[in-house]
Amino acid sequence: MTAPVTVAIDGPSGSGKSTVSKRLAAALGLAYLDTGAMYRAATWWCRRRGVDLDSAAEVTAAVAVMPLEMGIDPADPTVVCDGVDITTEIRLSEISAAVSAVATNLDVRAELRERQRAVIAAERRPGGFSDGRGIVAEGRDITTVVAPDADVRLLLTADESARLARRARELHGTDDAESLAATRAEVVGRDARDSTVSAFLTAADGVVTVDSSRLDLEQTVELVLDVVERARRGAL
Ligand code: DC
Repeated sequence: MTAPVTVAIDGPSGSGKSTVSKRLAAALGLAYLDTGAMYRAATWWCRRRGVDLDSAAEVTAAVAVMPLEMGIDPADPTVVCDGVDITTEIRLSEISAAVSAVATNLDVRAELRERQRAVIAAERRPGGFSDGRGIVAEGRDITTVVAPDADVRLLLTADESARLARRARELHGTDDAESLAATRAEVVGRDARDSTVSAFLTAADGVVTVDSSRLDLEQTVELVLDVVERARRGAL
């Protein structure tokens, strides 16, 4: 029986964070928590309840009672809120456009941070999805705020043009000039708003930076697996 491992991964959108985190979790038999999906779910929930997203107090009150269940299997991560499977719906651009209003609310962050810590702690005990092996949790403030004591902390970055091209292919199926322009408007604006509440563009002390600008997915996963293995051996 090896000791449980918590891997915290932060980074901006388009850094490949989600794909790499899922691959890493699957390879190591760990659970996977997408904390961005929790902010997206909170946005969906507020809209469903007819909450005015400009009212911080209303948003806070709604999120405090949000019945959210995060599926943490990296092969099939699901998001169910109020009994509705919203895994796909929370990726729609209307949610992406509105999510910063919720994610920059500090009371919402405190609430979701506690829920995230509970999921992470549960995976360090026998009986959960990973049966005590641990979890890969990814987001913007996992290495710094949610799990600063994680066994392995990584910042996955990529330069802006690489991130935009990846996001454009994801959202529009191509990275031609038109798709790049549309993606730039969404991604750069959102990262700027999000970086007012968490510092995910530079690595905090003790956090290993992995720059994926010139790496493909396989190479990035290999590199991250190597960092995790070395950290577990105490070589980092
Ligand atoms: O990674 P994503 O695009 O699914 O994240 C959705 C939003 O939530 C994005 O605006 C950043 C924010 N977020 C955050 O503020 N803190 C986290 N730990 C994860 C995401």
